[in-house]
Amino acid sequence: MTDTPEQTFTLTNDQTGESCTLPLVEGTYGPHCIDIRKLYAQTGHFTLDPSFTATGSCKSRITYIDGDEGILMHRGYDIKELATKSTYLETCYLLLYGELPTQAELDEFTHNITYHTMVHEQMHRLFSGFRRDAHPMAVMVGVVGALAAFYHDSLDINDPKQREISAHRLIAKVPTLAAMSMKYSMGQPFVYPDNTLSYSENFLKMCFSVPAEEYKVSPVLARAMDRILILHADHEQNASTSTVRIAGSSQANPFACISSGIASLWGPSHGGANQKVLEMLDEIGSKDRIPEFIERAKDKEDPFRLMGFGHRVYKNLDPRAQVLKESCDEVLEELGVDDPRLELAMELERIALEDEYFVQRKLFPNVDFYSGIILKAMGFPTEMFTVLFAVSRTVGWVSQWKEMMEEPALRIGRPRQLYTGAAERPYVPMKKRK
Ligand code: SDX
Repeated sequence: MTDTPEQTFTLTNDQTGESCTLPLVEGTYGPHCIDIRKLYAQTGHFTLDPSFTATGSCKSRITYIDGDEGILMHRGYDIKELATKSTYLETCYLLLYGELPTQAELDEFTHNITYHTMVHEQMHRLFSGFRRDAHPMAVMVGVVGALAAFYHDSLDINDPKQREISAHRLIAKVPTLAAMSMKYSMGQPFVYPDNTLSYSENFLKMCFSVPAEEYKVSPVLARAMDRILILHADHEQNASTSTVRIAGSSQANPFACISSGIASLWGPSHGGANQKVLEMLDEIGSKDRIPEFIERAKDKEDPFRLMGFGHRVYKNLDPRAQVLKESCDEVLEELGVDDPRLELAMELERIALEDEYFVQRKLFPNVDFYSGIILKAMGFPTEMFTVLFAVSRTVGWVSQWKEMMEEPALRIGRPRQLYTGAAERPYVPMKKRK
C-alpha cells in the first residue's frame, strides 16, 4: 500500500524571503490543520489567535461539528439519531468508550452509575454554608470541586482504573448534587437517589419529589429530560471543555477539572445563555416589542445581544435547536402547558432570520434558544437551567479529559503571547512619582 505523500504547507516572510515548511494534517472530516509545533523552533515566531478562532488545540475522536451544514455527531453517530433512538446513559457509554454498548455492557455500565449516585453524607453539610438565594451554579462549582475531599481513593490520574471510577462517580453524582442545589435553594429537604429508577427518572424524582407525598415520575417528563441531556452532552472544544482540558493538562484531579468546566459554562456567552434567553423573552413580553429588541441587538452602542442566537462554529441552524424546537410543541402539549413564550420565541426567530444583520452574520438559534422553554414547562426554576446543562455536559467534559489523559505524551497546556506592555524601565521612588 503506497503511503500518500505527506502534505506540507510553506509559510514565507514576504520581506526577508525566509520560509518554513510544516506538515498539513488531515482528519476524518473538517478543515486540514497546519501542524505548527515546530514553527517557533524553525522561525523564532509564534502564531497569534486570540479566542482561538482558527486554532486546533488537540486531536479528538469524540465529537465532530460541521458548522456550515449544521451537523453534530458523536463517535460518528448523528445527534438527531441519538436524540430520537438512544438514551442518555447509552450516549454516555458511547462518548466515554467510543462504541455503542452491547446489552450486557450497557447493563453493567448502568449498574455502575446507578450505584454511585449517592454522595458522602457529610457533603450534605457543605450546602448549609451557602445562602439559600445563592445561584445554584455558584453552589455547584463548590460542591463538585469538593468531591476531591471525599474520594481520595480515585485521585491518581495515572491509574486508568482510578480515572474510570472518577469518571463514573462524576456522571453519577453531579445530578445528585444538582438536585440538592435546587432543593437547597427552595428550602426543601434533599431527596436521596432511588436505584429502582432510570437515570432521568431518578434525577426528576430528586428534583421534584417531597417527603409529604408519593411522587410518580411522568414518562413524558422523563423522556424529555433524557433527550435534553443527550443534546447537551458534548460539543468539541467549546469554552468549558477547553477549560477542563487545560486544567487536566496540569494533572489536576478530575473533580477539580470538572468544577472548572462548570465555572466556565456559567458565563452568559456560553451555557448561561439558556437562563438569559428566558429572561430576555420575559423582558420582550409581547410580539409588538420584538422590532425594538432586534434593533437593540444590532446597535453596537447597546450591550444587548439576542440571547440564544449565534455560535462560533454553527453558521447554520444548530441541529440541537432543531430537535428542541420540535420537542417544545410535543412536551408543552403533553404537559398541557400553554407558554406564550414559545410563540414569542418562534416569532422572534422568524423576524431575526429575515433581517439582513442576522442573515449576513449567519446568526441562527443555538441550543440555548428553545431549551429554557421546555425546562420551564417541566417546572425547573430559571436559575437551574445552566445547572442542567452542566449535568449533561459532565460526560462530555469527562470523556474529553479521559481522552487527553490517555494521550501517550501528555504535556501541560501553556499558550504563549504577544507582549505589548512597557519596555524595561528603572524603579521610581515614591517621592519622585507625580
Ligand atoms: C453555547 O462553543 C460551543 O460549542 C458552545 C455550545 C456548547 O454546546 O458547548 O454550543 C453552547 O455556548 C451556545 C452559545 C450560547 N450563547 C449565546 O446564545 C449568547 C449570545 N451569542 C453570542 O454572544 C455569540 O454569538 C457567541 C458568543 C455565541 C459567539 O460569539 P463569536 O463567535 O465570538 O461571534 P462574535 O461575537 O465575533 O460575533 C460576530 C458578529 C458580531 O458583529 P460584527 O462585529 O461582525 O458587526 O455577530 C454579532 C457580533 O456583534 N453577534 C450578535 C450575536 N452574536 C453575534 N449580534 C446580536 N446578537 C447575538 N446573539
